[in-house]
Order: sequence, then C-alpha cells, then structure tokens
Amino acid sequence: MATYPAPAKINLFLHVTGRRDDGYHLLQTAFQFIDFEDSLEIDVTDVDEVLRLEGADYVDADEDLAVRAAWALKRLTGCRRGARIKVHKEIPAGAGLGGGSSDAATVLVALNELWDTGLDEHALAKLGLDQGADVPVFVHGFAAFAQGVGDELTPYTWPERHGLLVVSPVHVSTPRVFADAQLTRNTPAITIRDLEKASVGNDLQPVARRLFPTVGEALDILSGIEEFETPRMSGSGGGVFAFDTLRYDSGRLEHLARELDGRLNGNTVAKQQTRPRGSASADGCERWTVRPFKTLNRSTLHERVFGASIR
Ligand code: C5P
Repeated sequence: MATYPAPAKINLFLHVTGRRDDGYHLLQTAFQFIDFEDSLEIDVTDVDEVLRLEGADYVDADEDLAVRAAWALKRLTGCRRGARIKVHKEIPAGAGLGGGSSDAATVLVALNELWDTGLDEHALAKLGLDQGADVPVFVHGFAAFAQGVGDELTPYTWPERHGLLVVSPVHVSTPRVFADAQLTRNTPAITIRDLEKASVGNDLQPVARRLFPTVGEALDILSGIEEFETPRMSGSGGGVFAFDTLRYDSGRLEHLARELDGRLNGNTVAKQQTRPRGSASADGCERWTVRPFKTLNRSTLHERVFGASIR
C-alpha cells in the first residue's frame, strides 16, 4: 500500500459576508496548511468496491469522507476498479482544521492517479466541493485567499510562521455555529489588496466560544503566553492557534507545549504516546491536543507525493 499525507489547514481569518438562499454562508477567508497531518494508505484492487480497512471509530466507514470521496470519483468517471483505504487519524475532528476534508481530497487526488481516471485539478476540486466546502483547497494544495463558500480560491503566499495549536476536548458542530442567531453575517467584504492592512478576525469565534466554553478556555490560555500574538480560532472551531513573535526557537515551543499538555491532560503524556493510532481519542473529545506547528504555503501531499503539480 502507498502512503499519502492529508495535512490540516488553519484559517488565518474568517469573515462571514452574507448568506445564500440555500442557507450556506458567503465567506472571505485565508487558508494556510500546517505541519500536522493524517496519513492514508491506499491500494487499488480489481474488485468494484471501496473498503475502509482502518479508520476513526467515531465515524462509520460509509460516512467517512475518505470513502465517500472514492465512491464519488467512481460514480463520476464510471471507473470499475476498487480501493482499500486505511485512514490513520491524527487531526482531531470538530476542530476547524479540515481533517475530514483533507482526507477526502487526498483520496480524490491519489485515486485519480492510481485509477488513471484522468480528471484535471479543476474537475477534482469541483467534485470535492460536493463533499464539503473545504475540500477544494486541499485538492489544489496551495495557500489561498478564499471567497464564495470558501471554494473560490486565489493562491496567496503568507509568511511561514511558527506557533502553538490548542484543541480542547470538544467536537464543535459546524452547522450549529453557522446556524446561531447571534452570528454576524454582514462583515464588509475586503479586497485581496486590503489583506495586508485590513483588520481581520474570525466571525465564528464569539459564537463558538459561547456555545462551547472550552474554546474560550483555549483562547485564554494562549492569550496568557508572553510573546505570542493574539490567538485566533480556526474555521468553525474549536482549534485555536497563536503565532510566536520571537525568532523561531523549536526548543521553547516544544517546552511550552509539553508544559501545557501536562497541565491540561494531567500529565498523561505516556498514555497518549501508547494510544493506538486512529483510536477513539483522536476525535479530540477526550484529551486536549497541544502542539507546536509551522504554517506551510504548499500542501505536503503535493510537495512530497506529486511534486509541484498534480497534473
Ligand atoms: O461544507 P461543510 O460540510 O463543512 O459544512 C457543514 C455545514 O456548515 C453546512 O451544512 C452548513 O450548515 C454550514 N456551512 C455554512 N456555510 C459555509 C460552510 C458551511 O453555512 N460556507
């Protein structure tokens, strides 16, 4: 079986600028990838079926976006070949880090090669959009300014920064956050030229914070660390991140992460390390996730597996 990475993303900011007639929200956001990823083992069979051999036990195989993406590609292309997929989850679900969407995109990009179904990047991204608004950015694999429902992408290069990521033990429901009556839905649109100087934030953050108090706890913890920029929530939450303003010091960030992990999880680091990959706690509902991270302008899938272009 070949192994493919499925990296997480963060939203550097996220504004809700309107709502479509179908209820979906119009956004402006900035995506960057981070060096935190799921990995998928995929091989091809001559049997017309898609099997998930391993995966998160909090999602049924039929509901797993990785499996649904494979079926969607089969349906669109009429491909009669099959696939066996192992999904090793590291990215917590319900964290605004795009884990499920990234798994789906990795399956689309990998199987399009392995099955030789010949879709171009644009067609794959369009197919991915049916699986979720965040899938296209993972299919394209470049950091981007995004509009529409998050699918109209303009490649954009931000500085690659280091910081700390904290995900509290709660699965934040994206539909619940978007449906909240108190959500601000009329933030004025900015242009790509305004990006550097505009004052930006995450409009979903106050709602997620009120509905899921541990999101506020995570924001407060990161606010209290000296030399960090103001923390921000990613996507619909509950993952939060803060950039370090110091010159990169991996030792300092790792030390901070270990200390915080011990404080939040009761020094159960040894237990975490022996946890089987893909076990229940990977959904972020039992433990806090605390880790140093670096942002990336290219997806590790594209960098490591497909080189500069997927085509
Ligand atoms: O696309 P995704 O599966 O992430 O969206 C989950 C839910 O979040 C949607 O069904 C919708 O209720 C809400 N959503 C939204 N506007 C967006 C993205 C998501 O209202 N741009």
